[in-house]
Amino acid sequence: MGSMGEGKIETKSKVLIVGGTGYLGKRLVKASLEQGHQTYVLHRPEIGVDIEKIEMLLSFKAQGAHLVPASFNDYQSLVDAVKLVDVVICAISGVHIRSHHILLQLELVRAIKEAGNVKRFLPSEFGTDPARMGDAMEPGRVTFDDKMVIRKAIEEAGIPFTYVSANCFAGYFVGGLCQPGHILPSTDSVLILGDGNQKAIYVAEDNIATYTIKTIDDPRTLNKTLYLRPPQNILSQREVVQLWEKLLGKQLVKTSISKDEFLSNLKGLEYAEQVGLVHYYHVCFEGCLANFEIGENGEEASKLYPEVPYTTVEDFLKRYL
Ligand SMILES: NC(=O)c1ccc[n+]([C@@H]2O[C@H](COP(=O)([O-])OP(=O)(O)OC[C@H]3O[C@@H](n4cnc5c(N)ncnc54)[C@H](OP(=O)(O)O)[C@@H]3O)[C@@H](O)[C@H]2O)c1
Repeated sequence: MGSMGEGKIETKSKVLIVGGTGYLGKRLVKASLEQGHQTYVLHRPEIGVDIEKIEMLLSFKAQGAHLVPASFNDYQSLVDAVKLVDVVICAISGVHIRSHHILLQLELVRAIKEAGNVKRFLPSEFGTDPARMGDAMEPGRVTFDDKMVIRKAIEEAGIPFTYVSANCFAGYFVGGLCQPGHILPSTDSVLILGDGNQKAIYVAEDNIATYTIKTIDDPRTLNKTLYLRPPQNILSQREVVQLWEKLLGKQLVKTSISKDEFLSNLKGLEYAEQVGLVHYYHVCFEGCLANFEIGENGEEASKLYPEVPYTTVEDFLKRYL
């Protein structure tokens, strides 16, 4: 990583962000610039006259990023783009209710292999560790299965990697008090999933980006999974609701839904909604995020980077008051 030049040792990797105008991607661009990396952002011609994306790309340029024209429909352009950098981070879409293009990354993996210069690739993961979800339910397992297809391709190609398991994006899960279909906290009543006591882990999206950029030059996370587990943010749904009630200064009316009822409600819903609800099922009824110890193939971000002042769930909730 880095190169010698004019007697000065350049230690920070050059970074290419793919999916840079996305929900997480734009935060990765910001964090990369803030942490002093030369930052390249893919500009796909397919965005055409999408003025919001163009404006965002121009704002990245104004902040010092380099825009790189390249397309998933033009393999050589991807090879040329990755040749410019040391590290590639992909934040391509992977939420069915919005957009899901995880498997497109196979082209990117092929391009990284051919280019041969990339010191580390961070594929679009940023959620539940898919390696632990081999028994996940249909149809939600598609997210984990697709992410595992990409992992397999990366590892077969011998590309150095870090997988970021970011757990719950706070904007979705804290905002909605863990209720599917909600992204704003209710002020009168709340639906508790099961007994509401399974622990989940919530991370503010800006913090996910900061930790991700922190790790790209860190040898401790090479070929490992970085789990984001800010200690104060490992909370059950009931604990999240309690924090909200404390801020609101009132109690919410609680009703609860059993596992069986929750699962039977899935039938008849749109596919994309079912995918999302299955994720809530594994997180809130099974506790899939916090019910295991990080083994030797993983590291925990708040331990590696204690200097990052992460946002607590309580502080995150204050913006909704
Ligand atoms: N743990 C959680 O709670 C949670 C929540 C949400 C997301 N996630 C994960 O975070 C990652 C990023 O998700 P996101 O919600 O930030 O994504 P997003 O905003 O929906 O989309 C990200 C980018 O994907 C690119 N994209 C979309 N369609 C494309 C296509 N047809 N061809 C090429 N590129 C395309 C676009 O890049 P351009 O900038 O080039 O247009 C878009 O900006 C995913 O892996 C997702 O599973 C996790």
